[in-house]
Amino acid sequence: MRWTRIRAGLLGACCLAVVGIGSSGDAVEARHQDEPPGDRALGLFMQAKLDHAKDVLEGLTTGDFTRVVRGAQALRELTEDELWRVNPNINYVRYTEEFARLADALEAEGQSQDIDGATLNFVNLTINCVNCHTFVRDERVTLVDPDALIR
Ligand code: HEC
Repeated sequence: MRWTRIRAGLLGACCLAVVGIGSSGDAVEARHQDEPPGDRALGLFMQAKLDHAKDVLEGLTTGDFTRVVRGAQALRELTEDELWRVNPNINYVRYTEEFARLADALEAEGQSQDIDGATLNFVNLTINCVNCHTFVRDERVTLVDPDALIR
């Protein structure tokens, strides 16, 4: 089941991000190489969120505001991509809007070198990541399986 794998991958990736190791691009490529091209593109696109979020964290911890601003802008731009809009559900749209708003705020705080505001918003953004992922997982669990109805 893809989500179990993604959940495990996510957990691992997040833990690694916290200790600052992070999975390399090659590892990500390898993880997706058996997937159909469409899924693979989506996986790599989604993975970019983690890369940019790590950039922001690195910028915050080293006081490199240029990195914070660049990471926030990159995160914001991802929301404009059609690959982001994989789910038409209103809750998904709301999480997306909140994500875009937080990324804009993070960019502005990076520009004005507001370390406290930017750090708080980075935490808010991370909560938004986790909430949207929980929502997407729950929705998968409650989706009706058409094959199950035929029996
Ligand atoms: C609006 C909802 C939403 C938000 C917000 C969100 N994600 Fe995701 N994320 C998804 C969806 C949908 C997938 C893909 C699920 C699938 O492959 O079926 C995904 C997949 C991923 C993956 C797995 C990629 C892979 O290798 O397959 C990572 C890593 C990830 N997201 C990181 C993040 C991070 C970090 C943030 C916050 C900075 C974030 N996401 C915010 C919806 C979201």
